Amino acid sequence: AVSPFRRHAVVSDTYSETTELADIDWDSLGFAYVPTDYMYTMKCVRGGSFSKGELQRFGNIELNPSAGVLNYGQGLFEGLKAYRKVDGNILLFRPEENALRMKIGAERMCMPSPTVEQFVEAVKATVLANKRWVPPPGKGSLYIRPLLMGTGTVLGVAPAPEYTLLIYVSPVGNYFKEGVAAINLVVEHELHRATPGGTGGVKTIGNYAAVLKAQSIAKAKGYSDVLYLDCVHKKYLEEVSSCNIFVVKDNVISTPSIKGTILPGITRKSIIDVARSQGFQVEERLVAVDELFDADEVFCTGTAVVVSPVGSITYKGKRVSYGEGGFGAVSQQLYTVLTRLQMGLIEDKMNWTVEL
Ligand code: COI
Repeated sequence: AVSPFRRHAVVSDTYSETTELADIDWDSLGFAYVPTDYMYTMKCVRGGSFSKGELQRFGNIELNPSAGVLNYGQGLFEGLKAYRKVDGNILLFRPEENALRMKIGAERMCMPSPTVEQFVEAVKATVLANKRWVPPPGKGSLYIRPLLMGTGTVLGVAPAPEYTLLIYVSPVGNYFKEGVAAINLVVEHELHRATPGGTGGVKTIGNYAAVLKAQSIAKAKGYSDVLYLDCVHKKYLEEVSSCNIFVVKDNVISTPSIKGTILPGITRKSIIDVARSQGFQVEERLVAVDELFDADEVFCTGTAVVVSPVGSITYKGKRVSYGEGGFGAVSQQLYTVLTRLQMGLIEDKMNWTVEL
């Protein structure tokens, strides 16, 4: 049968809409960069507001070597996804939440931010321009990466005089190489990703550079990723390099509360609401590392990882295992409800999805 998404179209320098699907192997998507057709840019001078942005052909960008983002890390990013429904239409998941989080992060990083409306419109335009890269239903999603950067020049430490919002997209499948199989984490108790009063609670680019060392060491030892502890007591769970963490004991779901050192994940927040709507008790509180040894189930949440079951955690050489190598009962239930909602397979009573 002819795919409903296949029609003749060409990609030109000026954006033209296409309903054709890109010619790639949709069954082997992981979480790796795949170049797409268009990106969106919008600029702002310090003290001003963002002007109307534009779509342009996807490609390298030109930056002055003295740009604030290159020299002092004045940059933020967001991550959200678009799913293709079985009827061919495209759904965004809670884009206003990303816009709001970018605003908060920009304030912390002394950057201006686009209005929620500008952000959402820019995301929509970028996705529509790259429609042929939204995977077929069930094959993955289009990951949308808005970057907010200090692109103006600085030499001394100061906020840059000019900013750029750039949005690009890439089709993705599962984040971890394990796919939907359980991941194996190691608790890091010496290196930290965030400190009280620091920037751990916003999505600044430096937070992710800060995890690379511990992550590389962990991966070399065969672990999937690292679970961080708070840097004051070295006792309470914070988050994994790219996602939030949840612990289940006797059907009560607990997750570290948002207190400035943990990224306020939109999937985290959505899973809490989904879990409560399914009748679970959810606690946002300090979760001690020792609780891992007594838990029935552990899972991670994030835009990129969605809901990812944890199969084992190692802390100071002691290893605890959960389940049979896949989802536990609770994470399976939450994953199913969330992803069905995101893909438009169940009624969106929460009003979370935006159809393009
Ligand atoms: C996301 O889940 O969108 C993230 O930002 C995590 C990223 C570091 C892969």
